[in-house]
Amino acid sequence: ATLDMELEQIMKGSYPHFMLKEIYEQPESLLQTMRGRVLINSQSENKTNALQIKSDVHLGGISQRLSDFKRSSRIIFVACGTSFHSCIAARQVMEELTELPVTIELASDFIDRRTPLFRSDVCVFVSQSGETADTLEALRYAKKCQALTVGVVNVVGSSIARITDCGVHLNAGAEIGVASTKAYTSQIITIVIFALQLSLDSRSKQVRRKEIHDALLALPALVKKTLTDLDEHMKAIAQRLRDNTSILLFGRGYQYATCLEGALKIKELSYIHTEGIHAGELKHGPLALIDENMPVILFASQDACANKVQNALHQLMARGGISNMIIIGTEGDSNLEAFRDKAQLVLVPQTVDCLQCVLSIIPMQLLSYHLTVARGLNVDQPRSLAKSVTVE
Ligand code: G6P
Repeated sequence: ATLDMELEQIMKGSYPHFMLKEIYEQPESLLQTMRGRVLINSQSENKTNALQIKSDVHLGGISQRLSDFKRSSRIIFVACGTSFHSCIAARQVMEELTELPVTIELASDFIDRRTPLFRSDVCVFVSQSGETADTLEALRYAKKCQALTVGVVNVVGSSIARITDCGVHLNAGAEIGVASTKAYTSQIITIVIFALQLSLDSRSKQVRRKEIHDALLALPALVKKTLTDLDEHMKAIAQRLRDNTSILLFGRGYQYATCLEGALKIKELSYIHTEGIHAGELKHGPLALIDENMPVILFASQDACANKVQNALHQLMARGGISNMIIIGTEGDSNLEAFRDKAQLVLVPQTVDCLQCVLSIIPMQLLSYHLTVARGLNVDQPRSLAKSVTVE
């Protein structure tokens, strides 16, 4: 046992917990996920010819099956937990670039419903461990239906990696903390790269693809900046929130996944009741929960949903307590200036809309970590939870 403990200490290095180590590894894990796949193309600077606006990606694990993908009529993502949230985060860009219907299924619900599947369907199974029982069962069902099965998995040689027809490894490195952090951000960018790969031939998408491609390459440095800028800030917010019994998180568009994942991180680690709520649902019930004592975290980015989020912000402000409002926004957003004295503003660097979620989840990872430490709870091994859920 002492040997195990010593080994654990060596693996954690200078970090007190695996979770904090894994949060801080993200600039590197994202780079590893992109290595050899998001290619730096020297031609891309030549803007005189539109055809030169290249954004090359190469996913070795699926490039052989591209013709199969082209014949498909829809893409279905299947996952559990945090992996499910990564699918929600990347869904919109997958729809935009492939112009295919993209649906997302909780593996458990997918199995319960015996969802109709066809040979023309692509089923993507997203799993850090590659061993989650429900996801694995859903995969076996999809194989029986003769759908094309794709794995997006971190653990090499795991069941899902072996059984799927083809796939992509996250290459994020071992994740030990029960609460998933670096796997989540690597899952998002892997699905984004997958979407870029599937739309490689689309002429009309080239400018957009290049925008995303360049933003991917710039992302690790922005993640690093976010970590450096916000760690102390989130620690201070955690001190203020530590004795609350409930926190509500709101977001929409590209930030819908962030509010779901932020809520999951906080509840599974700190045992504070949280809910991630689509901001469009505010008037359909959640608004009744808002009073001057309810802490609220709202995700606001400078994207197509900005005006709608502003709307939600005003409605929350009108009912909520000023000191209980936390806005996760982007640097340089002039719309947020008016709220500087009325709320806690947490600003992350701006990137392309579909990758903004990778930056805005960072303060939530830090907040859940600091809340848990402040409450004296076990960060790496929350009660009743397991890293890999291999039984139903
Ligand atoms: C467990 C873990 C989560 C993870 C989920 C799905 O609940 O605690 O962190 O997101 O399983 O696991 P998978 O390995 O399939 O991504």
